[in-house]
Amino acid sequence: MYVWNRLHTTAMVVQECCFLLFSVLVLAETDEADCPSPCSCSDQYGEIVVSCGGQDLARIPEHIPASVTWLDLKYNNITKVTSKSFKDITEVKGINLSHNKIRKISADAFKNLKHLDNLDLSQNLLKTISYDMFKLPIDSAVKEARHFFVDLAMNPWLCDCSLAWLTEMFRNGSHMFSSRFVTCDGPETLKGVDVKDVSLSAFLCPIATIAPTEEKENSTYNSVSAEGRHTTSNFMFLPLVSFAVLIGFLVGALIVRGCTERHCKHRYKRIPNMLPTGPQKDGFV
Ligand SMILES: *[C@@H]1O[C@H](CO)[C@@H](O)[C@H](O)[C@H]1NC(C)=O
Ligand SMILES: *[C@@H]1O[C@H](CO)[C@@H](O)[C@H](O)[C@H]1NC(C)=O
Ligand SMILES: *[C@@H]1O[C@H](CO)[C@@H](O)[C@H](O)[C@H]1NC(C)=O
Ligand SMILES: *[C@@H]1O[C@H](CO)[C@@H](O)[C@H](O)[C@H]1NC(C)=O
Repeated sequence: MYVWNRLHTTAMVVQECCFLLFSVLVLAETDEADCPSPCSCSDQYGEIVVSCGGQDLARIPEHIPASVTWLDLKYNNITKVTSKSFKDITEVKGINLSHNKIRKISADAFKNLKHLDNLDLSQNLLKTISYDMFKLPIDSAVKEARHFFVDLAMNPWLCDCSLAWLTEMFRNGSHMFSSRFVTCDGPETLKGVDVKDVSLSAFLCPIATIAPTEEKENSTYNSVSAEGRHTTSNFMFLPLVSFAVLIGFLVGALIVRGCTERHCKHRYKRIPNMLPTGPQKDGFV
């Protein structure tokens, strides 16, 4: 009895030791100690993969291991990406945010991610996106001769002046953004049109963006203009053109209206005089 007890205890100690040793090894190797709660973290041949897919997450977990190289957040309920979301994971190469409910991405969201070269934003609720937020990683990827790839498919894009850069990008033969299933959801006239097929002159912004009024402060357009502030300056002339056309139309309407006045009738009367003389003239009188 005593011997059996003794053996049992020894076995348990050995088992516990082994478990501890094993845990320490695993933790050291995969940073599992820092793994945020619903996610799983693993080291796959030197790539630190943090998988948080399909967890009903409403926001991006905090304290993602800084060594992560591939971050999987697909199939969650994430609504926004802030400037803090990815602040510390500077080694990350790929982030999958596909199949979420993202409406807003901070312009600084990817600022520190110098190694990022794969970003999946497909199947979200994005209406607009600023080229500025891609400038840094794209530039560094290009400098390091890496291929940077961003998937923007299946979002309800609002094709106004702040998204014109994207069409320009597609036409430029850039492969940084996939044009597959990148389709306008608005305005109504462009609904269903591939962003790459929108004519650049069709990218209009409402006149309100020239002089935003207080009542428009919460409108979609205003947030668009705020985010698209730094888009290609070429497209800033479009609102001006719209404005000029409107003024032209008003002036035209005034002139036509003015023609019901006496002096206008007088002018019409004089028109036959301007016609060549001959048999035609007889036909008029
Ligand atoms: C996430 O979205 C799904 C589908 O809309 C919904 O059924 C679920 O309740 C949401 N989960 C949370 C935690 O909000
Ligand atoms: C992201 O996840 C989606 C959904 O599983 C998948 O279709 C897509 O290929 C992934 N993106 C990348 C870049 O791996
Ligand atoms: C497209 O190409 C032109 C000419 O190379 C360049 O000036 C312009 O900045 C490019 N546009 C974008 C959005 O990259
Ligand atoms: C604008 O939005 C803010 C917060 O989202 C809200 O408090 C405010 O009442 C809104 N203003 C108008 C004019 O809708």
